[in-house]
Amino acid sequence: MSDERVRELAELAAQAALCTRCSLAETRTRVVFGTGDPDADLMLVGEAPGYHEDQQGEPFVGAAGKLLDRLLADIGFRRSQVYIANVLKCRPPNNRDPLQSEIDACSEYLRRQLTLIDPKVVLTLGNFATRLLLKRDVGISRLRGQVYPWWNRYLVPTLHPAAVLRGGDGLMEQVRADFALAGRALTEVTQVADPAAEQLGLFE
Ligand code: URA
Repeated sequence: MSDERVRELAELAAQAALCTRCSLAETRTRVVFGTGDPDADLMLVGEAPGYHEDQQGEPFVGAAGKLLDRLLADIGFRRSQVYIANVLKCRPPNNRDPLQSEIDACSEYLRRQLTLIDPKVVLTLGNFATRLLLKRDVGISRLRGQVYPWWNRYLVPTLHPAAVLRGGDGLMEQVRADFALAGRALTEVTQVADPAAEQLGLFE
């Protein structure tokens, strides 16, 4: 990444830290912008900060984050080698689902992060990130397990780690398989799910 893009990412983070675009600004403790390598080939996009993330200002530091670290280790990555961000940068009260108005207010930050970091592969964790980026109104369980061409990159949708923690063994196998798929997509994608996906807008 050029110095210019590193500077722009830092500026964007500083801007997000003061953001008042939606009412989550009133209830958050910290803005959780994103962490990791600004030059990462693999970027993970979750849903929204929870209690621990809101306290610490970092994504995925709670129980779901521990699982994420294990899944990344299985495909040969440390957290510091990827970039991790969320659809929402602030915690919804009581961890409720993000509102569409909050997603709309926040999505420009994610769009800029994706543009500046320019990863080769994006792993979307759960329904909210997948719906926002892939623009399909289909649940994650039907979309997962495949690689989608996406803006000259690849997108691999998978289950949210928190859902895996609630859901048991079958889900663990699925999320593991999807992480392996993302790992392979970084080096050797030949087969993609549906080239038409590429025609759909990023945040349109
Ligand atoms: N769940 C998410 O989607 N993101 C986090 O940062 C933590 C939990």
